[in-house]
Amino acid sequence: MTPPVIIAHISDLHIKAPGALAYGKVDTAAALTRCVETLNALSPRPDMVVISGDLADTPSRTEYAHLNELLAPLALPFVAVPGNHDDRTLMRAALPGHSFAAPGGPLNALRPVRDLDVVAVDSSVPGHSYGLLGDDTLAWLDGALGASSTQPAMLFLHHPPFVTGIGHMDAQNLRNADRLAALLDRHPRVRLIAAGHVHRATLTTFAGRQTTICPAPNHAVALDLDAHWPPSFVIEPPAFHLHVWFPGSGFGHIVTHTVPIGHFDGPHPFFGTDGKLL
Ligand SMILES: [Fe+2]
Repeated sequence: MTPPVIIAHISDLHIKAPGALAYGKVDTAAALTRCVETLNALSPRPDMVVISGDLADTPSRTEYAHLNELLAPLALPFVAVPGNHDDRTLMRAALPGHSFAAPGGPLNALRPVRDLDVVAVDSSVPGHSYGLLGDDTLAWLDGALGASSTQPAMLFLHHPPFVTGIGHMDAQNLRNADRLAALLDRHPRVRLIAAGHVHRATLTTFAGRQTTICPAPNHAVALDLDAHWPPSFVIEPPAFHLHVWFPGSGFGHIVTHTVPIGHFDGPHPFFGTDGKLL
């Protein structure tokens, strides 16, 4: 049997200068280190890691240099696209070994991973928190997806193209989700849309495809579905997603696992040496 393709999805790292805490409270560097340790310990190893934006917090050369120090122990290849907290030019300069679709402008990328295409698009809008896929990005995406009609693809971006119910985040989600949906109608090979930005594990459908938001390694946006708090965060158990693509008839299928970050007791056997349940 062909082994599945395993894509790890992490998001919203919010790395600051060494020693600085996000919002005066969250040690995002320590959180990323724990995340990298958990990624490196996975068996079987993921084929690739996707980082869907907000790599830096208040982007500067110092923050991206710190990010690179923290990612250096990562034993897996990764692809990254910007979020609203990133700076395209600084991020591109900080990732010199990474190829993007164009030498300037939005950071879009396609990485074939065996029989699966990993496609990541830049939904950031310089100077704004909300997301938008520019005409150049949509044209590139249409062309890249049009190169095949049979190869399954996963699509990653920072801003969710749907409403979550968390109002202050929905106000800054992807503003032209309708254009993305119309594009996806032409490309049934996209089997998963995966976003970040909200720091919470979320499942829905978009354009008829399974769709997720990846939890963060640090803080979570408070689960506030009736806006009774000001915009707030909570230190919840950190996690990331593993999207596992199984080949099969049609485009195969994808299962998303939520993986808690940290060291946990186990694994312990269910059965004793006599084969009986313990
Ligand atoms: Fe964001």
